[in-house]
Amino acid sequence: MDSLAALFSLKGRVGLVTGASSGLGVEFAEALALAGADLALVARRADRLERVAADLRQRFGVRTATIPADLTVDADLDRVVEEARTKLGIVDVLVNNAGVALTGRAEAVKREAWENALAVNTTAPLMLSQRVARVLIDNKKPGRIINITSIYAHVGSSIYRMVSYAASKAALVNVTRQLAIEWARYGITVNAISPGWFPTEMNVEGFAKGDHLARIEAFTPMGRIGRPGELRGALIFLASEAASYVTGSVVHVDGGYVAW
Ligand SMILES: NC(=O)c1ccc[n+]([C@@H]2O[C@H](COP(=O)([O-])OP(=O)(O)OC[C@H]3O[C@@H](n4cnc5c(N)ncnc54)[C@H](OP(=O)(O)O)[C@@H]3O)[C@@H](O)[C@H]2O)c1
Repeated sequence: MDSLAALFSLKGRVGLVTGASSGLGVEFAEALALAGADLALVARRADRLERVAADLRQRFGVRTATIPADLTVDADLDRVVEEARTKLGIVDVLVNNAGVALTGRAEAVKREAWENALAVNTTAPLMLSQRVARVLIDNKKPGRIINITSIYAHVGSSIYRMVSYAASKAALVNVTRQLAIEWARYGITVNAISPGWFPTEMNVEGFAKGDHLARIEAFTPMGRIGRPGELRGALIFLASEAASYVTGSVVHVDGGYVAW
């Protein structure tokens, strides 16, 4: 390892990014492509995935596969891993990014909404990780799993009512730690990135309401929300050789939001 580029290069690796049809998933896919990885893109909206894939091929010259799927359906998860392998090779960088943020007062939250948050934000990352890890273990290949959690895994929100989101993201942090321990022996590292506020389809309506943006900025030591591109470095680091001895950790990319 004698060059900076080699330390962070993902050439020859196969990445799979869930929720790659919008928002942070697109940024994560771009980050892996920038470092040279081929990419399987997964979400339900096929047309959006196609657009992202065409852009990545054109800008970075990487190979892509678009795999429309609902991550709450087991048969879809099986198909995702199989199709990615057939089209690109064994997935060795998994980014569990897809998520839903349902808001609503705790005293009114419905069982269905609560269970949906857990299904997408916690259960799907575990079930997909399990399928990716089994192939890696069977083939004696190392791999990287990166789970996208949230500042609300670590603190509650006084701005939005989101008990199911907060619970599901907190659970994902400890899923990360447990998998890291169990799979360290196979050379599979499992880490999390915990982003602060970044404007996407998930939250853009909320930002526009009242003084929400001003309150978020006031809670953030750096005094601002995240900018496009500010999550790339953390992902490339965790996926690359540079993080070979890092597992079970949470990288906070939040302007200091949970530092106090
Ligand atoms: N933006 C922020 O400020 C922020 C902060 C902290 C953490 N995060 C986390 O970052 C991740 C990405 O969020 P985002 O802000 O980029 O939101 P977003 O633009 O709404 O993206 C969510 C993604 O998840 C996919 N998805 C949702 N349910 C799915 C399902 N059942 N099956 C397959 N795909 C599904 C969506 O694709 P389809 O609709 O096409 O299926 C979409 O691509 C989430 O886990 C979120 O909790 C975001």
